[in-house]
Amino acid sequence: MGFAPRLQLRDSPGLSPVFPVTALDATSLALRHSIHATTVTDPPRLLLLGGTSEAGRLAEALCARGDLVVVTSLAGRTASAAALPGQHRTGGFGGTEGLAAYLRAERISALVDATHPFAARMRWHAYEACNRTGVPRLRLERPPWQAQPGDRWTVVATLAAGATVIGSGPFRRVFVTIGRGELAALAPASDGRRRWLVRCLDPPERLPLHPAEVVLDRGPFSVDGETALLVRHRIDLVVTKNSGGDATAAKLEAARNLGVAVLVIDRPPSPEGPSATTVAGALEWVRASFGLSAQGDASSWRRGE
Ligand SMILES: NC(=O)c1ccc[n+]([C@@H]2O[C@H](COP(=O)([O-])OP(=O)(O)OC[C@H]3O[C@@H](n4cnc5c(N)ncnc54)[C@H](OP(=O)(O)O)[C@@H]3O)[C@@H](O)[C@H]2O)c1
Repeated sequence: MGFAPRLQLRDSPGLSPVFPVTALDATSLALRHSIHATTVTDPPRLLLLGGTSEAGRLAEALCARGDLVVVTSLAGRTASAAALPGQHRTGGFGGTEGLAAYLRAERISALVDATHPFAARMRWHAYEACNRTGVPRLRLERPPWQAQPGDRWTVVATLAAGATVIGSGPFRRVFVTIGRGELAALAPASDGRRRWLVRCLDPPERLPLHPAEVVLDRGPFSVDGETALLVRHRIDLVVTKNSGGDATAAKLEAARNLGVAVLVIDRPPSPEGPSATTVAGALEWVRASFGLSAQGDASSWRRGE
């Protein structure tokens, strides 16, 4: 049996054309979709904004259910879509307008924004586009790292503020782990009074820090390995974004054990609305939002079966 064209919730009689996302909870969404489920025969389509390990794991878990279509979207900077389950697309949408048009054209029923904690723009585009189109949205973001006893952290809001801290401090050997894209923000502190060790996945197109050594490496990293690196390069300051997660947390423990200072760049602000910090939490939101069964049941979306 072929799937019939879906009736979009925003087109349903009696429903506001724009749902205030902040007012939506799982119960109201489930109610809306139970109305919806009586009128359509195709599975709901979920847009997953990816670029993180969490997005990959969520796509896997959702696709395994078999009762919804998952389209993962990647910016196309580094991660390859090839290994992702479900459908995928690559490249920007063209701002808020473009994303809203995509949501309508592709008849997306819900969006999970699982972009990186430091992907500062996409979350706002998702927020605006979902508000405009009435598509429910969840922000999935892993918890930030928290300072532990013994840590010597300085937390700043921006890399520019971080450059000021480095430039005005006593640091002579700085280990930079912020990726390759924003190294220029630290250039004001590159005044010849300190050496830089830069670790990133791919070689930087240009290196605005001098003198510097570049290490190309990919986590997960071990505490032993990070400790050896800090000692070998006589590092007195580690610079990191507060990305959270396990894969790159070992540098924090190594710095703590060695008494090395850490400059932590805080996360950019996020829009209000539903959020989850784990893949399990996001799964539950999707399940409850659509009124899906716990295990997955494709037939629930096909009238008459
Ligand atoms: N920033 C980081 O530290 C970091 C680290 C690891 C992974 N990432 C991943 O790399 C991607 C780009 O990071 P960023 O810092 O450049 O993000 P950003 O500043 O939030 O986004 C910049 C632009 O890239 C496009 N874009 C971002 N994520 C997209 C997605 N999942 N699908 C389609 N288009 C997307 C959008 O273009 P349009 O306006 O044209 O739609 C967006 O306006 C993100 O998906 C993020 O998850 C970022």
